[in-house]
Amino acid sequence: MLETSLAGGPVPAVMGHRGAMGHAPENTLASIRTGAALGATWVEFDVKLTLDREVVVIHDDTLDRTTDGHGAVAVRTLAELAGVDAGGWYAPAFAGEPLPSLAQTVRLLAELHLGANVEIKPTPGRGRLSGEVVAAFLRDHWPRDARGLMISCFWPETLAAVRDTVPGIPTALLTFDIADGWRDQLAGLGCSAYHVSHTALTAERVAAVRDAGFALRAFTVNDPDRARTLYDWGVESIVTDYPERLTGL
Ligand code: G3P
Ligand code: MG
Repeated sequence: MLETSLAGGPVPAVMGHRGAMGHAPENTLASIRTGAALGATWVEFDVKLTLDREVVVIHDDTLDRTTDGHGAVAVRTLAELAGVDAGGWYAPAFAGEPLPSLAQTVRLLAELHLGANVEIKPTPGRGRLSGEVVAAFLRDHWPRDARGLMISCFWPETLAAVRDTVPGIPTALLTFDIADGWRDQLAGLGCSAYHVSHTALTAERVAAVRDAGFALRAFTVNDPDRARTLYDWGVESIVTDYPERLTGL
């Protein structure tokens, strides 16, 4: 049963990336199931608007790399995307794996009692709309049986729309580098966390973000030695393609 419950919940040390994309086709229900089977209690996945303002789980603006479809996601309706194969490109065993809607995905999260880091990939030219639609969907449909929830995004405009649509929903700004003015930017957007590429991190930078009162999480780390270093510096959570490698570090 779907009920509104937007409590963030404690974020674990390990989050599966696009489900568990080291083992299964990224951003599919199979990938999320695999992440759970490998010990992840939260998963990260990417979401994007359809033409009819529904939400699907996919990384790229276009279908070509990760499905048997072609062209832009933003010009297809949810019904048109329902028949797309998002698994066959990865391996024959995954052929027929659907391109999931966000609605299907949150039902699976509830079934598996998983938390989610929902990363919005805004449609070009529809940055605010992308934030508004995803935030409203999660406000209205986040399942009580799922674990915790956060929304992340590289684009401040989209996070501002999330903040304005559902004030208080946990959000994180993603970045490949820590630019000047980050404190004010995070505070202005109402973000509780900074999600930073591990390649941009140093012990000093981790300390500065944490001292400023923000959670610091890193992406995407598949090497346990590197993960250990990041945890030692104070990184609280790491997004990985291989959850089983980092569990228990
Ligand atoms: O959450 C971090 C990571 O997912 C951001 O990069 O391109 O894999 O969505 P990307
Ligand atoms: Mg992502």
